[in-house]
Amino acid sequence: MCGIVGYVGPRPSQDILLAGLARLEYRGYDSAGVAVIDGEGSLGMRKKAGKLAVLRDSLADAPLPDGSTGIGHTRWATHGGPTDGNAHPHLADDDKLALIHNGIIENFSALREELLADGVVFRSETDTEVAAALLGREYAGNGGDLQLAFRSVVNRLEGAFTLLAMHQDHPGLVVGARRNSPLVIGLGEGENFLGSDVAAFIEHTRKALAIGQDQIVSITPDAVSVTDFAGTPVEPEPFDVSWDAAAAEKGGWSSFMAKEVAEQPEAVANTIRGRIQDGQVVIPELDGLDELFVGINRVIITACGTASYAALVGKYAIEQWARVAVDVELAHEFRYRDPVIGADTLVVSISQSGETMDTLMAVKYARERGARTLSVCNTQGATIPRESDAVVYTHAGPEVAVASTKAFSAQITALLLLGLHMGRVRGTVADASVDVAELAALPEKIAKVLESEQEHVTQLAGWMADTRSVLFLGRHVGYPIALEGALKLKEISYIHAEGFAAGELKHGPIALIEPGQPVFVLVPSPRHSALVHSKVVSNIQEIRARGARVIVIAEEGDAAVLPFADEVIHIPLAGAMFEPLLAVVPLQIFAMALATAKGLDVDQPRNLAKSVTVE
Ligand code: M6R
Repeated sequence: MCGIVGYVGPRPSQDILLAGLARLEYRGYDSAGVAVIDGEGSLGMRKKAGKLAVLRDSLADAPLPDGSTGIGHTRWATHGGPTDGNAHPHLADDDKLALIHNGIIENFSALREELLADGVVFRSETDTEVAAALLGREYAGNGGDLQLAFRSVVNRLEGAFTLLAMHQDHPGLVVGARRNSPLVIGLGEGENFLGSDVAAFIEHTRKALAIGQDQIVSITPDAVSVTDFAGTPVEPEPFDVSWDAAAAEKGGWSSFMAKEVAEQPEAVANTIRGRIQDGQVVIPELDGLDELFVGINRVIITACGTASYAALVGKYAIEQWARVAVDVELAHEFRYRDPVIGADTLVVSISQSGETMDTLMAVKYARERGARTLSVCNTQGATIPRESDAVVYTHAGPEVAVASTKAFSAQITALLLLGLHMGRVRGTVADASVDVAELAALPEKIAKVLESEQEHVTQLAGWMADTRSVLFLGRHVGYPIALEGALKLKEISYIHAEGFAAGELKHGPIALIEPGQPVFVLVPSPRHSALVHSKVVSNIQEIRARGARVIVIAEEGDAAVLPFADEVIHIPLAGAMFEPLLAVVPLQIFAMALATAKGLDVDQPRNLAKSVTVE
C-alpha cells in the first residue's frame, strides 16, 4: 500500500520518480503525485486520482519545471477518498514544502484540532496533511531548519508512518522517517534514493541501506545520514540487492501473474539452493541458532492471507518432522487476544513483503512476550526480518502481481526446509535422504504440471467463465491448498469461492451442493494413506450424488477417482508433504484463466494492495 520514492542528484528527477512509482504500482494505489524542486529553487507539484497514466498525461499536457530533487507517491486511500485533493504530496509553508506519507497517523484528529485553532486551513481530508502542516509550522518557528523541524514532527506522531519531505529553500535535500512502515535507501554515484522498497530504485543501483524502526534519514547527492528520533546518529545496515531490474519486468508475458506462475520451478529451486548438504537440510542463516529450536514446547506460525495457507502446510511438516506442537494463527487475531506464549514458544512469521502490518505487529507482540521469533520472508531489507531473531529468506525473486503465487510456493518450500532443519537439530529426523530427494525433484515436477495442464485448465476456465460460485475441498495438506485455490479465484475473478476441509462437508457445506455446482477436489495419493484417500473418494461420491460438477486433482495413475470425476487434472507422484506444491499450480492457472476470460486485470485486482501496510 502506498509507494514512496525520493531522489536527489544531478539528473532531472521527474522521470526517475515516475519510473520508481511504476515499479511500486504493484503495491496497490488509487492516486499518484510528484513534487520537484527546480533549478531556480521553486517547488512544483502535480497529483491526480487514478492510475499513473493519468498523472503522466497531466504532466505531458502541462509540464512541471523539472529539477533534480523530488519525491513521488502512489496512494491507497485510507482517510478520505481517492481524489486529486487527497492524493499526495501535501503542501505547507505557503506551498514551499512538500510531504508524502505511507501509513496511518492515529492521533491526527487531535493534531488537526490544534492546527485549526492555529488558523491552518486544510485542503484535504487526509491524516497526512496534518503532518505537512505541523512540519510547516515547526519549520517557520525554528528559523528554517528542515531536519530539526522534521524530527520534532515525527516525535509528535502516533501510529505507523513513512514520511518524506523537502523544502524549496533546501534544494538537494530530502528527509525521511519510518515507524512500522517501510523505507530503504538506495546508494548511487553522486545521487541517492529513498523508496518503499528496493524496486523503487533498482534500475539505478543495487547498493542499499536498511533504515531501522524510529529512524530519520537525510539524503543529499553526496551524503546519507541516519539518526534515531532523538537525533543520535546510527549506522544503517548495508545490503546488496540480489534482484535485478529485468526480474521485475514482464518480459513478454501477458501479465506479471502469468510470469510468476511460470517462474515457480525457479523460485522453488532458488529457495532450496545452498540448503542441502550431504543429504541433510542445513540452513546456513540458522548456523549457531540451534537454541531457537531446542527446549521449545510450541511453535506458532503467524501470517495473513496466502502466507497463512503456506503456514498451514508448514504446520503439518514441522509437526511430523520436528515433533513439536504447531498452531497457525492469523496475525491480526493473534495480536488482539491474550495468547499463552513465552520463552519456550517459537513464533514463526511468514510474509512475502516483510511489511504486512498485521504480521509485523504480531512479531513485535511475540517478542515483547519473550517468545523466540523467526521469519520467512522474500524481501531483503524488509521490516519483519529485522524485527525477528532469525530469518529464512525465500528466493522467489520480486513478486509484482497482487495475487501471490511463486512466493507461496517458495514459502512452503522454506517451511519444508525449516521442518527438516528443526528435525535434525532436535534429533527427531535421523535420515532425511528421502525427503531431501523429494525436495530436489520438486522444480522439475512443478515444471511438468505447468507444461501438461496449462492448456487443459485454461480451457476448463473458459467453459466456466459464467460460473457464479466454485467450491474447493481437501484433506490433510490438501486442505490449505483448497483454501488457497478459493482465495486465488476470489481475489482476481471476483467469483464467490470457498475452500473446505473435505471432512467438514457433512457438517454443513454439503447443503451448498446443487446440480452443476463446480467443486475442485484435491485427492491425496493412496500411497501416503489408503484411508485418507478412500475418505476423499467417498466425499467425491457424496457431492457427485447431489449433482456437483467434480474436478479432481489427483496423482497420475489414480484410477479410483475416474468413475466419479467430470474432469481430472493429473499431478506427478510426490511425497505427502510435497504434493501441495504440485496441486496448487492448476488452481493458480484456473483462477488466472478465468479472470482473463472475464476480461479482468489479473495483476491489479480491484480494492486490493500487494503489501498491506496498514491494519
Ligand atoms: O506480503 P505478505 O506475504 O505478508 O502478504 C500477506 C497477504 O496479504 C497476501 O498473501 C495476500 O493474501 C495475497 N493477495 C494473496 O494472493
